[in-house]
Amino acid sequence: MLLEVRDLHVEFRTRDGIARAVNGVSYGVDAGQTLAVLGESGSGKSVTAQAVMGILDMPPGRITGGEILFRGQDLLKLKEEERRKVRGAGMAMIFQDALSALNPVLSVGDQLGEMFVVHRGMSKKDARARAVELMERVRIPAAAERVRDYPHQFSGGMRQRIMIAMALALEPALVIADEPTTALDVTVQAQIMDLLAELQREYAMGLILITHDLGVVADVADQIAVMYAGRIVEQAPVHDLYKAPAHPYTRGLLDSIPRLDHKGQELYAIKGLPPNLMDIPPGCAFNPRCPMARDVCRTDEPPLYEVSEERASACHFWRECLHDLDH
Ligand SMILES: Nc1ncnc2c1ncn2[C@@H]1O[C@H](COP(=O)(O)OP(=O)(O)O)[C@@H](O)[C@H]1O
Ligand SMILES: [Mg+2]
Repeated sequence: MLLEVRDLHVEFRTRDGIARAVNGVSYGVDAGQTLAVLGESGSGKSVTAQAVMGILDMPPGRITGGEILFRGQDLLKLKEEERRKVRGAGMAMIFQDALSALNPVLSVGDQLGEMFVVHRGMSKKDARARAVELMERVRIPAAAERVRDYPHQFSGGMRQRIMIAMALALEPALVIADEPTTALDVTVQAQIMDLLAELQREYAMGLILITHDLGVVADVADQIAVMYAGRIVEQAPVHDLYKAPAHPYTRGLLDSIPRLDHKGQELYAIKGLPPNLMDIPPGCAFNPRCPMARDVCRTDEPPLYEVSEERASACHFWRECLHDLDH
């Protein structure tokens, strides 16, 4: 496994109490594979990713347990300096908001080029040439002319391409893309997603794709991990999960995607709100919103049940959920 997160716990100490943001997350991704991490806002997707990247806000954040193995080495045991080296050489992150991730006072050519100057010891001239190549690779029109432009001179979609180019410049083994298309309109979203998928294959990198939108990952992910209240509630190969979810929360998410073949039908929405992370309900955290909840769900926290060799679900009634196809 390229990256393996094991039983990760992260909490935030705030004036109002302790927010348990990540409560025992385990997931992994191999080289050449894409893991989609799905869940509503506030479910701990970004915090988990920040812990992996070593960019967690600490304090108030605190990693209270678990391991983050990158090529078998536990990053949590490394000193900051060693950690930075591993990160620089092996992993990169793509954020939702390119405008705040890019430096506004440097031309995109200088920003891209700097990566090669600093990390590869290239001359400025060679680095500039590589920057243009990269911009062409992410299909920015007229790259040779636009290399002198500043981030704000590009459209949202083009800026996102530039951030992808930045992330891929040093050919990292692992890329984490945190809602990379959320700020873009739908047609541009699809183009960016296609580009990411294409580059992921070409570079054979491990990709963790974080999203709250199940619709955008169907075609590009291999595995999906669904998060709720800082836990993984279902994990499965993407096609299995689409065909038959084994957790009522996943089913709710699937039912809330607009579908062309269901035109005119009212869109389903999961009722209620995600829990307060300072006061997660006992039993299954999803029970107050779950149409299938019974007494045991309010008292016993479900373990991750093995549904098949490749699948797991944290629902006491995963069998029913799986077989109840025409709900
Ligand atoms: N810097 C922070 N300070 C305090 N609490 C935080 C901070 N970052 C995240 N959290 C807590 O962690 C929860 C999960 O956040 P996050 O991982 O960003 O969710 P998402 O699944 O939307 O990416 C938030 O709802 C919040 O309670
Ligand atoms: Mg997030």
